[in-house]
Amino acid sequence: KWPKHVTIKEVGPRDGLQNEAVTVATEDKIAWIQQLANTGLTYIEITSFVSPKWIPQLSDSYEVATNIERIEGVTYAALVPNQKGLEKALAANVDEVSVFMSASETHNRKNINKSIAETFPILADVVREAKAAQKTVRGYVSTVFGCPYEGMVSIEQVSDVAEKLLDMGIDELSLGDTIGVANPRQVEQVLTVLLKRFPKEKLAMHFHDTRGTALANVLMSLQMGITTFDSSLGGLGGCPYAPGASGNVATDDLLYMLHGMGISTGVDLDRLTEAALFIQEKIGRALNSHHLQTIASCRT
Ligand code: HMG
Ligand code: MG
Repeated sequence: KWPKHVTIKEVGPRDGLQNEAVTVATEDKIAWIQQLANTGLTYIEITSFVSPKWIPQLSDSYEVATNIERIEGVTYAALVPNQKGLEKALAANVDEVSVFMSASETHNRKNINKSIAETFPILADVVREAKAAQKTVRGYVSTVFGCPYEGMVSIEQVSDVAEKLLDMGIDELSLGDTIGVANPRQVEQVLTVLLKRFPKEKLAMHFHDTRGTALANVLMSLQMGITTFDSSLGGLGGCPYAPGASGNVATDDLLYMLHGMGISTGVDLDRLTEAALFIQEKIGRALNSHHLQTIASCRT
């Protein structure tokens, strides 16, 4: 019933740091990504090549991507919204690029300043050129389980965007609960529809934990056959263009649950904890994963 192994994709350096009030120094980002790569994680989304006016916290993306010492077996990925971002990502030689858009019109406009219809040809060009440059490509659909501006999003809307992205040739599709509104029954409903149309190997889940339902949603996804999950160490993160969004499901909490269930991830929780304490100090606030809080209370 349960998978033997789950792949964790660490998005903290991108999804986490893009939403912190404090901009972490470039050298600290580099040091942190290197610590993360030494925990056994095989995939790290290290930054984004978006407009520095929109996301000033990640305006050092080129410096970060070109100064980390890469470890074999780790995929270093970056988020890219358009042609300009792709050029920079290719110049920085990231291993994988991630394109992104929303299932709801208003969030798409607020996040990337384009309608959904205008976004498709832009992303299609990015995917084609990234592939021509021998890169793998990931695609994100945001607001899959609800939109901060429009409320409910229909499964048909999600399915339509998903199909268009997969038809472009992306290697994996990550389904985003951008503002953490999903519940396990809704996850079951959405995945029931999507898994009839797309193979489960192509799908990953990206849960934010705004209302504390993320681990329950992971559990439901596992039961539905999904084995790839995005998470952010310590629960860092959010989306600055989605009011009220908070961090992703915490990598450390996810690991605790999976390992306890006998599901391997290849990631070492002790090393991960050290990396969490490092970034916690740099951002100057206590991170809110249950795991880190447990450690803090054990120490006092
Ligand atoms: P725009 O203002 O419409 O862009 O923004 P434009 O094409 O009109 O260009 C305006 C200026 O931006 C120009 O510079 C461009 O060169 C520059 P100027 O001539 O004024 O000096 N520009 C760029 N600069 C650097 N890198 C680029 C780039 N593109 C244009 N790539 C744009 C459109 C898409 C650029 C903007 O809206 C943007 O950067 N948005 C990104 C917002 C973002 O990063 N949001 C968070 C990530 S998504 C997320 O968190 C959700 C996810 O986690 C899944 C989930 O949780 O659901 C993935
Ligand atoms: Mg996100």
